[in-house]
Formats: sequence, structure tokens, C-alpha cells
Amino acid sequence: MIIKTNKCIPSSEITDPAIFKQRRQIIKAMLAMGITGSGIYSCFADAIESKWQNVPKGYQPKTLLTATSNDIVKNHTNYYEFTYNKTDATSLAQVLPIDPWSVEITGEVEKPGVYHLEDLISQQTLQEYVYRFRCVEAWSMVVPWIGFSLADLLKKVQPLSTAQFVQFTTLFDPKNMPNQADNRLLEWPYVEGLRIDEAMHPLSILATGMYGEPLAKQNGAPLRLVVPWKYGFKSIKAIVKIELVKRPPLSTWSKSAPNDYGFYANVNPQVPHPRWSQNSERVLGAGFFTPRRKTELFNGYADEVAALYSNMDLRHFF
Ligand code: MTE
Repeated sequence: MIIKTNKCIPSSEITDPAIFKQRRQIIKAMLAMGITGSGIYSCFADAIESKWQNVPKGYQPKTLLTATSNDIVKNHTNYYEFTYNKTDATSLAQVLPIDPWSVEITGEVEKPGVYHLEDLISQQTLQEYVYRFRCVEAWSMVVPWIGFSLADLLKKVQPLSTAQFVQFTTLFDPKNMPNQADNRLLEWPYVEGLRIDEAMHPLSILATGMYGEPLAKQNGAPLRLVVPWKYGFKSIKAIVKIELVKRPPLSTWSKSAPNDYGFYANVNPQVPHPRWSQNSERVLGAGFFTPRRKTELFNGYADEVAALYSNMDLRHFF
């Protein structure tokens, strides 16, 4: 399925296609030589890579988004299982074993099972999705993700009519994820959730790559959720379990601070965080003197998603 959103730009407008091609050749050469390096370029990287050849391009956006530099996106991360700062996950996350990787899909679903990631990927159409990404901490970036429609995956496993919500769980691996050894700040494993209609929305994707490459471990390899109209904490990393459930999942942040982080977490400049305004955002990489960007309702995706919330008081369901 080709999703035409007017907020997408082809990667060729972000990086010279020749550089992309060269990058692909480098990855291929590494694979051929059996060099796994940091471990990113693994068996399913091969699946991602061969699929990447066919990633549909040619989106014709009304609004051109300028992608944040790859360097910033890879080195300014929130990955609390490893660290509470934004720089150290780049090195700390490299210990995470991500190959092989499987995802359990369970709950209110016709075809539950434990699926190998490469099998899941091989059934999907990988595409590029250039999305705004807005953190609840009031910084933002634009990322050219590579991934596939969450709805397409869910349709394959056939949710039952009783499935009202989708719960996602990150790998529980205290040996390699030092902060999972205690539950003082957050309770592990990291859990997130969506309403079923949010999960089935064409903008909701599972990402396996970005900038034409397999996803870096610190950015949630090998599989993460991306929901561009919600604050970044909804976009859970390193997913090992997807559960179709009847009731709203209790997500990690809502459990830890229910007044600060609601279940919906829709980007909304009218609803401040208890300790700061959400009216504007610092655009990463924009330069010291660049003014903050005015935050848009649903992060600029209101045309696509506002109907999901037409009868809801967004101040109450924040
Ligand atoms: N997923 C897991 N498992 N652990 C995390 O700490 N951080 C969240 C989200 N997903 C997080 C996570 C937060 S707070 C944000 S803003 C985004 O990931 C950051 O994604 P990035 O590090 O790729 O920019």
C-alpha cells in the first residue's frame, strides 16, 4: 500500500541518491564479508536491505520537511533502559543482542504466535516515511524512517472484535540494560499502548530503519513504533511483544507519573505539561539563534488524525 501523505518527502531530497546508493553498497559489502560491526548489519538487516531496493519513493508533499541530520538523531536519544542522559545510549546500546529477534503477537487475535522478525518484514512493503518527531520535553526533529504499516501487520494476524487496544512491550534484558536492574524511576519492561483505531491509522508505522539504513540500536533496533502525531515516548523501542487487549494498557510513563503523561499523549500546544509549556519546541540542529518552532496540534497531522478524537475533550484525555 502506498501511503500518500502530504507531509512526506522522498529521501532523494534529503540526501544525494548517489550517497544512498553507495551506502547500500557498503552495507552489502559488509554483509558479504561477514562483518557485523556494531551488530546492526545482521541477518534481518539483509532483509531490510533487499527490501529497501524497492522502497516506494515519489511522495509529492505540499510541505517540504527538512530532515534533521542523521548524526543528531543517532546521538541525541532517550533510551532509559540504558541511561538517563541523551548521549550515552549511542555506545551503551551496542551490547544489545538483536539477531535473531522475534516478536510475540498475542491476546485478542485470530493468529497468535511468536514470529521471526525477518518473516514479519518479508511479508511487508517497506516504505520511507518522513515524519516530524516531537518529544514531550519540547524538542523536535524530522526523521526519514523506513518501515511498514502497523495496520498491515495487525491485519495479517486478524484482531478479534474484542480487541480495543494494542499493547507494546520492549525487551526485558537487565543484563544488558543496566537501568532495568531497579524499578525506582520507571517500571520495566517499557510498555506503551494505542487505541485500536490509532494503531490501524495509516500514519502509524513500525520502523526498521532510518536514513536508508537499518535502525541504529540506540534508536530502537531492530523494531520500534513510530506514531508521529503523539509525543515521542509513545514510540516504543526494541519491541518483543504486541498484545491485542480489551482495556487501555497501563503505559510505563502513565504509571510512573499519571498527571504528567497521559495515555493519549497527542501533541497539543494547548495542553501544557504540569511543569512547562507545550506551545513551542526547540528544533534540534537548527542553530542557537533560530527561534523556537510553534508547536502544531497533532504535530501538524491534524488533517489526517483529528477525526479520531472528534468527540473527546483533549484536555481531559491528554
Ligand atoms: N522506548 C524504550 N523502550 N525506552 C525508552 O526509554 N524513550 C522514549 C521513546 N521510546 C524510550 C522508548 C522517548 S521518551 C522518546 S522521546 C523516544 O523514544 C526517543 O526516540 P529516539 O531516542 O530515537 O530519538
